Amino acid sequence: MCGIVGYIGYREAYPIIMKGLQRLEYRGYDSAGIALYDGQTINLTKTPGKVDDLRDKSASISLAGSLGIGHTRWATHGVPNEVNSHPHFSNSGDLVIIHNGIIENYEAIKKELGQRGYVFHSDTDTEVLVNLIEEVKSKEGVKLGKAVQIALNQVVGAYAIAVFDRTKPDEIVVAKLGSPLAIGVGENEFFIASDASPFIEYTNNAVYLEDEEMAVVRLGKEIRLRKIKDDAVAYPMVQELQMNLEAIEKGGYEHFMLKEIYEQPHAIKDTYRGRLRAGEGIIRMAGIDQNLDRFLDANRIIIAACGTSWHAGLVAEYIFEDLARIPVEVEYASEFRYRNPVITDKDVLIAISQSGETADTLAAIKLAKEKGAFVFGVCNVVGSSIARETDAGAYTHAGPEIGVASTKAFTTQITVLTLIALKLAKAKGTIPEERYLEILSEMESIPTLVEKVLETNPHIEIIAEAYKDSPNCLYLGRGYNFPVALEGALKLKEISYIHAEGYPAAEMKHGPIALIDEHMPVIVIATKKGHYEKVVSNIQEIKSRKGKIIAIVTEGDEQVRDLADHVVEIPECSESLSPLLTTIPLQLLSYHIAVMRGCNVDQPRNLAKSVTVE
Ligand code: AGP
Repeated sequence: MCGIVGYIGYREAYPIIMKGLQRLEYRGYDSAGIALYDGQTINLTKTPGKVDDLRDKSASISLAGSLGIGHTRWATHGVPNEVNSHPHFSNSGDLVIIHNGIIENYEAIKKELGQRGYVFHSDTDTEVLVNLIEEVKSKEGVKLGKAVQIALNQVVGAYAIAVFDRTKPDEIVVAKLGSPLAIGVGENEFFIASDASPFIEYTNNAVYLEDEEMAVVRLGKEIRLRKIKDDAVAYPMVQELQMNLEAIEKGGYEHFMLKEIYEQPHAIKDTYRGRLRAGEGIIRMAGIDQNLDRFLDANRIIIAACGTSWHAGLVAEYIFEDLARIPVEVEYASEFRYRNPVITDKDVLIAISQSGETADTLAAIKLAKEKGAFVFGVCNVVGSSIARETDAGAYTHAGPEIGVASTKAFTTQITVLTLIALKLAKAKGTIPEERYLEILSEMESIPTLVEKVLETNPHIEIIAEAYKDSPNCLYLGRGYNFPVALEGALKLKEISYIHAEGYPAAEMKHGPIALIDEHMPVIVIATKKGHYEKVVSNIQEIKSRKGKIIAIVTEGDEQVRDLADHVVEIPECSESLSPLLTTIPLQLLSYHIAVMRGCNVDQPRNLAKSVTVE
């Protein structure tokens, strides 16, 4: 996710854009830039780092101009440095663009433009897009708006863009597909932004573009809205916003955590976008493709991580061994780094980290590299320390995760790890082609299935009310869902401060069942796939001891419904992908309990979003 801001009107653009970028920093903060048209030239400043760094750096340039665009970046292509920051010029220097999204087919377009003499200074997909627009504009002899419409019909991916032409400085052209874009409508002025927070203090009249819509925003004129596909006229609906600033930054959600829970369908889709072509049975991951032999020849895969990322590693252990038949060991990075582990050059270590800055995980990577292992990173922050330290990697495209409690990072990590396991299983021939294609196709249905699970939220809020004062809680799961039980317990612990433990369901009889009584809520993941019947008998053991049972079940399940005190139904899916669904109700349950207990959900006590110390 990135933040985009634009202004065209009678005021000085600079202060409006800079303050607007500050308000959008929650959407991305690894680099920033601004382009201002002062009537003669476009003055462009950009820098790695935060908006404050941009403010410091831009103090040395001409800040005049009532037309401008600005960008705060969450890198997806190209490390966060100055040259990759937005805005980006076209080769002629006449066009300048900002972009939030991912152009999947940018390499093919870049190659084509390169053959036509275009040169590129950055690694970004965005610089390719602005030169494609320039190429269309000059070759077709059309205006900017038409050139944008033609060009966007040649790209595949997601975008919210704002672009203007130095030779026609009375308009900004915007377009949207998959990423948000709002136009603030003022008196003889317009604002462009990823959400309304940059312009709400100037106007609460806004037009939200729909997917596959574009607009030419011209001073003194009505907004001209078009459909990108066929240039058909669309009609802007001006909304009068009632939201306050804070609510807007959270997308209308009360907390970032809830917003990020609800972003998971989009985040999972963004994570497999450009990598997964289920219909063709293709998974493209450069970090794996270029190092496939290291994985296929490996004696084992060691996974090192902390916290929620460690739980994602445990899910990966089931996936890799079940599908790719490669031995996997999952290690707490903090233990691994100090226990003098046996590591050889036949080992592959996968380091999983949302922040890419966790000190213990970074230390585990360095230790493994010293001993000759091949190290692969799964991170959410492009250019982070772990991303730079590993030999290769694959990014989750979850966008910034602001809530301390990891949610969309967990499900996007599992998405990346599942794709890797499937690639290796395919290369090794360890699963039948039919099963391989089935899982690929099911992966593409996961975002829709997650949307369906999110619909259980009101029901989960009612359950939370019944257990918000419990001093303890147990979470049980089997197979792929044992790590999900651990993750559910961690979520509850870290944001509601209720003591919770996760166990393999069968482990109850080896001690923990002594804890069961009428005061102990037990959350059991009892979906139909996997060892369902054994989980049902575990539930009966708990019930006979008066434990309170909250069961996550496959929709239509009557057997567990008769035994449990509460059930949350989720759609059926294969066991290997079920963690992507079963974790959602547990995230929502911990969220609602924490809110009801008056806890600081986004910044729980004693915790930090990134543990960069030992
Ligand atoms: C999980 O909700 C916590 N925020 C924490 O356990 C976190 O997963 C852990 O600190 C690892 O962080 P990383 O993924 O950024 O390395």
